[in-house]
Amino acid sequence: MNLPNLNEARKRTNKKVEIREDKYKLSNTQKAIGINKNYFIKTYGCQMNEHDSENIKAILNDMNFNETDTLEQADLIILNTCAIRENAHNKVFGLLGRIKHLKQTKEVMVGFGGCMAQEEVIVDEILNKYKWIDFVFGTHNIVNLPNIIENATNNKKQEIEVFSGEGEVIENIPVKRDNKYKAWVNIMYGCDKFCTYCIVPYTRGKQRSRLPKHIIDEVNSLIKEGYKEVTLLGQNVNAYGKDLEIDYTMANLLEDVAKTKIDRIRFVTSHPWDFNDEMIDIISKYDNIMPYIHLPLQSGSSKILKLMGRRYTKEQYLELFKKLKSKISNVAITTDIIVGFPNETEEDFNDTLDIVNTCKYDSAFTFIFSPRVGTPASKMLDSISLEIKEARLQKLNQLINKYSKENNDKYLNKTVSVLLDDYSSKKKDCLKGYTDTMKLVNVKADSSYLGKIVNVKITSIKTWSMDGEIVE
Ligand code: 5AD
Ligand code: SF4
Repeated sequence: MNLPNLNEARKRTNKKVEIREDKYKLSNTQKAIGINKNYFIKTYGCQMNEHDSENIKAILNDMNFNETDTLEQADLIILNTCAIRENAHNKVFGLLGRIKHLKQTKEVMVGFGGCMAQEEVIVDEILNKYKWIDFVFGTHNIVNLPNIIENATNNKKQEIEVFSGEGEVIENIPVKRDNKYKAWVNIMYGCDKFCTYCIVPYTRGKQRSRLPKHIIDEVNSLIKEGYKEVTLLGQNVNAYGKDLEIDYTMANLLEDVAKTKIDRIRFVTSHPWDFNDEMIDIISKYDNIMPYIHLPLQSGSSKILKLMGRRYTKEQYLELFKKLKSKISNVAITTDIIVGFPNETEEDFNDTLDIVNTCKYDSAFTFIFSPRVGTPASKMLDSISLEIKEARLQKLNQLINKYSKENNDKYLNKTVSVLLDDYSSKKKDCLKGYTDTMKLVNVKADSSYLGKIVNVKITSIKTWSMDGEIVE
């Protein structure tokens, strides 16, 4: 049994990151485990988790399992969990209740993975109260799923494999992508920023960048397969390369990916701290780097930003924001904001509203601070009531929605380019896609347009999307 350990997870050593091109292996026995069996997977959280699930699906595919989207039809159920806030926890434990009932009526194997599996408190709870879960695997242990599932099949005891201080980059994990035209490409794993509220540096480990050649090779093979868009993924992509032994930065990587001539490039998530002029120049120079930036603010108060360990002041954030707006034409900027950080005063909160009024974001994800066990912020004394925090969130959301609508309204009757990437889930006879600035558009079009980048005239604006018509 390998259990998670917060103290181990916190450590950052100089140990060299190992790049493993041969770690994923599958025996003939493992290939036969899934024959005539279905798996159901439920993914919570960020794009990183979604992409991890694409790896998990490919591994299960190699083991000859079939995917089902019905829980009741599954022989294997996998939860890929998120630890970022308490409500993510609650959702997972809610589903576990349903699965427990199901397990009383039929034989089904249950696996618990992802960021929650990296948390000591959660694994303790599983050991004590959820003994019926067959196996637990951490974010560093996905590559080993064939062994974990084989052991869980043969031994009837709970199998737990969660490494805490792992520092590898695994290059040969297979991937079964959810979309045929746009793909996620990991450029780095982990995070070393240790913002005081955030659990990610513990659950995902130290920052490890992939080698440029592996990333470029992946993009080139995606182009050959017909992909039109890549999103470069990392918790803090601007810090890409800082841990490599070569002199190579995010700006270099963006330029090299742009030179592959893939139609569209996006990247998430940026930390304002590492966003330098070189990057801005490259983004504005290449047409295939999309004018869309997610730039988490977290708080508009310099005092709170300091307590959060964000390493920038309100003024520095605004300076960067203005630079991005002036140098990258037509750029859309979105953000993340936390309200109710310990001891956030009315004045601090007003500072956040001020920034929102200045930046008029295209959209924003907003959250109430949620203490995560083991992080410094969870130990800070807090005198602000939940009632006040909820009122602040509501006030903030009203402002965010106002600017979001104003920004969207500007699109009416404009012609924009959209990559039609799938059937619309909302509108019959329509495809859906995103503008270069990441606005969701439903377009009346038949399936021959799937995977095409087309010019679309926007005909109406809805709250969360727009409708449009193709113009030739
Ligand atoms: N409480 C509330 N929000 C959080 N986030 C990260 N950690 C917490 C927390 N403990 C938010 C941040 C981050 C986004 C992904 O989630 O805004 O940018
Ligand atoms: Fe968490 Fe901060 Fe790292 Fe983002 S940069 S993952 S908020 S520690």
